[in-house]
Amino acid sequence: MKVIRMSILLPLIGLLLLATAGTGDAHNITHILAKYPEFSTFNHYLTTTHLAAEINRRRTITVCAVDNSGMSELLSGHYSLYTIKNILRLHIFADYFGSKKLHHITKGSTTTSSLFQATGDASGTFGYVNITNMKGGKIGFTPVVVSDTRPDGQPMATFVKSVEEFPYNISVIQISHILSSPDAEAPTASPTDVNITTLMAEQGCKSFSDLIMADSGVGDTFALSVEGGLTIFCPSDSAVKSFIPSYKNLTSGGKTSLLLCCCPTSCSTRCRRS
Ligand SMILES: *[C@@H]1O[C@H](CO)[C@@H](O)[C@H](O)[C@H]1NC(C)=O
Ligand SMILES: *[C@@H]1O[C@H](CO)[C@@H](O)[C@H](O)[C@H]1NC(C)=O
Ligand SMILES: *[C@@H]1O[C@H](CO)[C@@H](O)[C@H](O)[C@H]1NC(C)=O
Ligand SMILES: *[C@@H]1O[C@H](CO)[C@@H](O)[C@H](O)[C@H]1NC(C)=O
Ligand SMILES: *[C@@H]1O[C@H](CO)[C@@H](O)[C@H](O)[C@H]1NC(C)=O
Repeated sequence: MKVIRMSILLPLIGLLLLATAGTGDAHNITHILAKYPEFSTFNHYLTTTHLAAEINRRRTITVCAVDNSGMSELLSGHYSLYTIKNILRLHIFADYFGSKKLHHITKGSTTTSSLFQATGDASGTFGYVNITNMKGGKIGFTPVVVSDTRPDGQPMATFVKSVEEFPYNISVIQISHILSSPDAEAPTASPTDVNITTLMAEQGCKSFSDLIMADSGVGDTFALSVEGGLTIFCPSDSAVKSFIPSYKNLTSGGKTSLLLCCCPTSCSTRCRRS
């Protein structure tokens, strides 16, 4: 039984490894933040929104972490996971700002692009963050807002401390509040509205999507993950055809874990166990 399972799993695992190869592992934001219980909520959301993988993939990056009370303020807004992801993307800068660099910002302020800008969802100047060196050495962070809907009465996020710095790869700093921006919070059509099984069928993976449909537990996992953004490794109809005979021999639990392997997030936690 074990041999049969491995023979099915190996090609899939191989493909998954290929998909993640070349990303290097110079830093692991989940691991860095795990040492700081005060950032556990922030860390959790970096993982569920898949932003952690995005951070680990990039070189020269700054992560502005907020503590658990700052995160509960954000969560009290009852945003969808998709919106939370957009908001958190504002907290990741595509540039390196260590404490030293922050305190030496010339001309008082600088504008940097966040992942909200870098990932192409933002138009114009949406997704830029203004970093201001204020009087008394205080450093403020404000999302550059182009719409005239700048939220008023909200406290400005300020630099609290440097958490960890690996010059010039990754700088993790703490800021006092969530960076809020009406642009990031604006309700956007969430990808959950997309029927993922139909989408896969359209992409030539009908056999695979039929397998997913037949396994209710898997269908739900796919639907849940898509809200956080996900890449599905979608095997073609001919690939599925060749593994169907062995697939049919698996227990239903075995079938489920195999299907979940095609969904990289679930895979990392579940695939190894099978
Ligand atoms: C990053 O660190 C976390 C926690 O230590 C670990 O569970 C995870 O597997 C690591 N990720 C990678 C890609 O090494
Ligand atoms: C950045 O903030 C400073 C100080 O508040 C302000 O003078 C400057 O105009 C801002 N820049 C942008 C692009 O919003
Ligand atoms: C930065 O990343 C490079 C390559 O990924 C690595 O060799 C180097 O040790 C890292 N520097 C620090 C300070 O972590
Ligand atoms: C997606 O489409 C399939 C086939 O049309 C349908 O059976 C299924 O219920 C749909 N799923 C969702 C979540 O709407
Ligand atoms: C599936 O199980 C049957 C009965 O145990 C066996 O004869 C057959 O060879 C198995 N098929 C595959 C592809 O492993």
